[in-house]
Amino acid sequence: MDFDLDRNDIMKVFPSPLGDIYLGKVQDGLSTVISSLHVSNVFVVADVNTAKLCLPQLHSIAVSERVIVIPSGEKHKNLDSCGLIWSFLVRQGADRYSLVLNVGGGMICDLGGFAASCFQRGIPFGHVPTSVLAMSDAAIGGKNGVDFEGFKNYIGRFQPPAFIWIDPVFINTLPQQEIREGFAEIIKHAVIGSKNLWDILEELENLDNVDWHRIFEENTPFKKQIAEADPHEKGLRKVLNFGHTIGHALESHFLRTPHPISHGQAVTLGMLAELKIAQEAEMLSDEDFQRIVGLIHRLLGQVEVTLPSIIELQHWIEGDKKRAGGQVGYSLPDKIGSCRWDVPVDRQIMVKSFDWLSTQVRTPAGRLSEEK
Ligand SMILES: NC(=O)c1ccc[n+]([C@@H]2O[C@H](COP(=O)([O-])OP(=O)(O)OC[C@H]3O[C@@H](n4cnc5c(N)ncnc54)[C@H](O)[C@@H]3O)[C@@H](O)[C@H]2O)c1
Repeated sequence: MDFDLDRNDIMKVFPSPLGDIYLGKVQDGLSTVISSLHVSNVFVVADVNTAKLCLPQLHSIAVSERVIVIPSGEKHKNLDSCGLIWSFLVRQGADRYSLVLNVGGGMICDLGGFAASCFQRGIPFGHVPTSVLAMSDAAIGGKNGVDFEGFKNYIGRFQPPAFIWIDPVFINTLPQQEIREGFAEIIKHAVIGSKNLWDILEELENLDNVDWHRIFEENTPFKKQIAEADPHEKGLRKVLNFGHTIGHALESHFLRTPHPISHGQAVTLGMLAELKIAQEAEMLSDEDFQRIVGLIHRLLGQVEVTLPSIIELQHWIEGDKKRAGGQVGYSLPDKIGSCRWDVPVDRQIMVKSFDWLSTQVRTPAGRLSEEK
């Protein structure tokens, strides 16, 4: 790619079979990357927020008649929205050489990527992730899909984008809560496998003045390497599930209550509980345990929630187990920057850890119920 060498300090390229990743200002090279693909047309998929707040940064690439705007939120990551995108592409005369450019958070990247990967048996697509979660995680790795019949990501594909362009400028308009959502995944990456990223995070007092470019310089190659080494999640990629076994169970539980918690909050709680499991199982040293828990509290704050009983929680973990063919092993860190996967967990340790978790949340009613 022919970029101005003077810009190398701000422009980073991470070549990958799962889609080359560019880190830098979109104005400085997105159109060059798109031109190099020799596409016939570019069609942009955005949601209502990113259409208003992010598309203006793309200037001539996002011409209004070539943009489809989807309502925002997870509940629109479904086949109906795919239908809207497909109809739009047909109406606009898209062909096999057209490019779908997804400009949005993980919802839009997953949805637009899936729609493009099926349209006319698959046309190229690129991601411009606009949320911290999408920049750090969702846009990288070639997974896409939609929710179906109440199950997350039930219909989907492994299909890499032609490229991913990460520009932290979009974070300027992202609500604080959404920043924390994505940051939970960045902390997870540091804990499970990137000591360099951990060192950067440990210097932070809070999330107010983050050097995002520096963070993505470390986070991007980490997520990319894991995804490349195990694109279909047969082994190593399972380390990314750290915090997610208990996190998903809590998320599913709270979805059925009047007070659902966000995915980021669920992962925060899941990481805390699973750290305690690792410490109790004598996999993780007390010192590393304290350092990680301290960093999570400092950067993400305490989650306000009334936890369910361990019995209720286990119902959801068992549900996950059935869907995974009877095998749910935990992914647990054994030191900062290293993680094991498929670790079986003893019920007693599980109970102890969940009990401890109840002391880490912000609510007067945050104790476990007595039925254990
Ligand atoms: N494919 C994968 O490997 C993978 C990995 C992790 C998560 N995901 C998926 O990612 C999705 C969650 O991603 P998300 O948290 O980005 O959710 P999201 O895309 O719904 O974005 C969250 C909110 O932020 C808004 N937003 C996004 N960018 C903005 C900006 N720059 N300024 C202002 N508002 C902005 C959106 O409109 C939305 O309201 C889930 O569907 C999850 O399943 C996929």
